[in-house]
This record gives sequence, C-alpha cells and structure tokens, in this order.
Amino acid sequence: MTQPSRLAIVPFVSVDRMMKLVLAIGVERFLTELAAYIEEDFRRWELFDKTPRIASHSHDGVIELMPTSDGKMYGFKYVNGHPKNMREGRQTVTAFGVLADVGSGYPMLLTEMTILTALRTAATSAVAAKYLAPKGARAMAIIGNGAQSEFQAVAFKALLGIDRLRLYDIDRSASEKCARNLAGKGFDITICSTGQDAVEGVDIITTVTADKQYATILTDNMVGSGVHINAVGGDCPGKTELHRDILLRSDIFVEFPPQTRIEGEIQQLDADHPVTELWQVMTGKAKGRKAPEQITLFDSVGFATEDFSALRYVRDQLQATGLYEELDLLADPDEPRDLFGMLERAAMQPAA
Ligand SMILES: NC(=O)c1ccc[n+]([C@@H]2O[C@H](COP(=O)([O-])OP(=O)(O)OC[C@H]3O[C@@H](n4cnc5c(N)ncnc54)[C@H](O)[C@@H]3O)[C@@H](O)[C@H]2O)c1
Repeated sequence: MTQPSRLAIVPFVSVDRMMKLVLAIGVERFLTELAAYIEEDFRRWELFDKTPRIASHSHDGVIELMPTSDGKMYGFKYVNGHPKNMREGRQTVTAFGVLADVGSGYPMLLTEMTILTALRTAATSAVAAKYLAPKGARAMAIIGNGAQSEFQAVAFKALLGIDRLRLYDIDRSASEKCARNLAGKGFDITICSTGQDAVEGVDIITTVTADKQYATILTDNMVGSGVHINAVGGDCPGKTELHRDILLRSDIFVEFPPQTRIEGEIQQLDADHPVTELWQVMTGKAKGRKAPEQITLFDSVGFATEDFSALRYVRDQLQATGLYEELDLLADPDEPRDLFGMLERAAMQPAA
C-alpha cells in the first residue's frame, strides 16, 4: 500500500495523548497558559466571526456545533450535553474539535475535546473571576461535584489563589470523589450536607450541576452581598440553576449576549435586561467589580472563541511535545482533479 502524502496528514490528539499532554505540562500550568490564550482572544473579540451555537435539542439532551473564525484560522467543536448519561455510565458532556487554515480550508488539527472542554470551561471561569471576584478571595463553594468540578477548583487556585473549598452535591459520593481527587493539592476541603451550608462564609459560589429542567440550586437568601457567582451548569433553554431573584440583585456578565439570552440564567429575564460583555471588561471598555458589596454573576454558557483558544493552545504544544498521531484524513491525488483516478488506482494496490 502507498503511504499518504504530507498534504493528506492532519495531526490528531487522542484522549490518551491529551492526558499525556496535560500531565507533561502540569494541570495548573496548562490552565494558566490556556487562560492567557482565552483572554488574548477575548481581547480581540471584534475580529471574530460570531454566532450563537447551533443546537439540536432532544428529550434527553442537546448536541451542538460551535464554530468561529479570526479570519486566519477557523475552529469548531462538536459537543453534547446529556445529564442522564452519568447514571448510565457515560459522560454528561463529550466533545471533539477541529482547527483549520482559512487560506486553504485544510484542517490543521483534529482533537478530543472532552478533557479540553473541562479545562477551557474552568480557565474561562477563572479569567472572568479575576475581574469580578472580591479582592483577596480565598474560599469557594462548589455545588455539583461531577466531571467539571475539580477542574474548576484547580483553575481558581492557579489564577486566583483559592485554597478553601466547600463542596456540596445531592450525591455525597460525588463530593467524596472530588475531595479525594483534590487531596494533597493545597486545598482545605469541607464536604457539606446542604447547599446552604456550602455557601456559608465563601467569597465565590460555583454552581456546576447537571439537570435538564429549571432547577433552583441557589435561592435568594443563600447569596450574601459581595459574593461572586460563577454559574456554569445552566447552559441550555429550560436548564437553569439560579432563582430569578438572585439575577435581579446581581450585576451580570456574559460571553456572547445573543447566545446567553437563549441558554443562560438570563433566559429567565426580559430580553433587554442589562448585561455586560466579558470582552469589554477585559479591554477596559466596561468595569468589572466596582464595589465590595456588589454581587457579580458570570452567567457562563461556553462560547466558541474559548474552544478556538483551546484548539490554538493545543496546536502550539504539539511540535515541542510530539504528543499527536498522524491521521490520513485528506484525500490528496497527485493531480488534484484526478480524485476518481486515485480511487481506481487504489484497487490495483496490493492489500496491506
Ligand atoms: N458553561 C459551560 O461552558 C459548560 C461547559 C461544560 C459543562 N457545562 C455544564 O456543567 C454541568 C456539569 O457538567 P459535568 O460534566 O460536571 O456533569 P456531571 O453529570 O458529571 O456532574 C453533575 C453533578 O451535579 C450533581 N447535581 C445534580 N443536581 C444537583 C443539585 N440539585 N444539587 C447539587 N448537585 C446536583 C450530580 O449529582 C452530579 O454529581 C452540566 O450542566 C454541563 O452542561 C457547562
């Protein structure tokens, strides 16, 4: 069998290679460097081609495509969200993605993005919190201790110095798993028996639960003044985590308003309720936290530029680490118009 040409080859990062890559770099360093890429892309927000993600909803979940481009590179992620999966031994969220060269349209990278999504979601939350959390924040509640939770904890430690965690999950074994995974990583961890108990005395509340219906993870009385809320789990029509009254008391920060108004906590509010775009805070066009008593809310849903940044970051690590495989993905006949001839000639090749 003939070998594929160089033009046929696309670097592929499997789950195995991704895990090796993250561990070779170190989780905290990976999150810190990824956060810098994410922030860099938020700062050049106006350059990007932006559209709310394309969602296909079903009874049990959603499958989404998340495309964007900065004019030089194009990226997209395929991602699902199926809360019932966890009870069937599957991930709630799985993903893979592609980065391509706008000039030729040729893919430059194909990669797993299940692990990468957990990392990019946590890095984005921590970048937002850098601008929004109260100064000197040390303690964070994490409500929902599933697949995303440890990534959130480590990102907040790496970027903000959070070292006290109060964990709560309706399933205590999830909190125990989270505490076990984070043991020895510089956290003082308390497992709590209610959400109310978890938010006691914290500076930041992260909600990262999974339920495909309007849920009330936080009620108004649980949120004291000065707190920053990092609301990650409400990210689909009909899937929210916060009581509406909290939203009315908070200054709300979002990624891309046309998407967040469909998918975020603010789907509970009027379509013209004021929100501030994160990129404006990062570029100094708008203020983040203005006062110690202010309640700030990052209504996270996950936007395509964050995945683009993650794809860009991973691609930049490949040369030095060699942690990828070569995938024969693109048909490359010797004469570009002779695709059919290439197919016919393959019949004459001896079988591998
Ligand atoms: N905003 C984003 O960018 C983004 C990115 C990735 C995932 N997500 C969302 O984050 C959520 C968590 O994802 P995951 O992969 O960790 O899911 P997961 O299924 O692994 O974990 C969810 C956890 O929430 C717990 N839970 C459910 N209802 C609860 C409640 N009422 N109170 C306390 N705990 C409760 C479950 O027991 C489970 O342990 C999902 O809703 C997912 O769609 C958002």
